[in-house]
Amino acid sequence: MIEIIFLFPLLGNFQFGVAREAPYWFLASAPALALLAGCGDGNIDNYRADSETGRWYSVEQVSAGAEVFAAHCAECHGDAAQGATTDWRERLLDGSFPPPPLNGSAHAWHHPLPVLLRVIDEGGIALGGQMPAFGAALAEDDKLAAIAWFQDFWSDETYSQWLMMGGVN
Ligand code: HEC
Repeated sequence: MIEIIFLFPLLGNFQFGVAREAPYWFLASAPALALLAGCGDGNIDNYRADSETGRWYSVEQVSAGAEVFAAHCAECHGDAAQGATTDWRERLLDGSFPPPPLNGSAHAWHHPLPVLLRVIDEGGIALGGQMPAFGAALAEDDKLAAIAWFQDFWSDETYSQWLMMGGVN
C-alpha cells in the first residue's frame, strides 16, 4: 500500500481517477494510527508510546538489545544491523537469501512485531533459509530488546510506515 501511495506522484498526471483516492485512504487510516500511537493494546502487554523514545520500546530495552544482538545476531546481520550485503534480494548459490539488513534499509519494516518475533522464534532453516531458530535459546524480553535495538536505527518515517503495516499488533 505504501509503495502504491508513493507511486501516485508519478502516475498522477495520467490517472487522475486513481490519484484522487489517495487522500481518502489517508483519512481512513488516521484514526487507526491515532489509536495505535495513543493506546496500542496489541500483543505487547501494556503498550504505550514511551515518553523518551516516542516508540513502543524504552531506552533500557535498546541498550539491553545491543548486548543480545552482538551476542546472537551480529555475526550474520552485521554489528550495526546493516546486513551481510545491500543485495539482500539476490539469492545465494544454494537458493537461500543472505542475512538482510535490519536497520530499516531493507524489508523488515513490512513485518508487524508478532511476525518479527515469529521469525526470531522459528528462524528460516525449516523454510530452506539460513537463520537459526531462537525460540528456546532466548527469553522473550531478550527477543523484544533485540528488535528494539535494530528498530532504533529506523528513521521516524520508516517507523510510521511500520505502524501502518501493523506495528505492534
Ligand atoms: C546464521 C546467520 C543468522 C543469525 C545468527 C541470525 N540471523 Fe536473522 N536472518 C538470517 C537470514 C539468512 C535471514 C533471511 C531468511 C533466512 O534465510 O532464514 C534472516 C532473517 C531475519 C529477519 C527477517 C528480516 C526480513 O526482512 O524479513 C529478522 C527480523 C531477523 N533475521 C532477525 C534476527 C535476530 C534478531 C537475530 C539474533 C537473535 C538473528 N536474526 C540471527 C541469518 C541469521
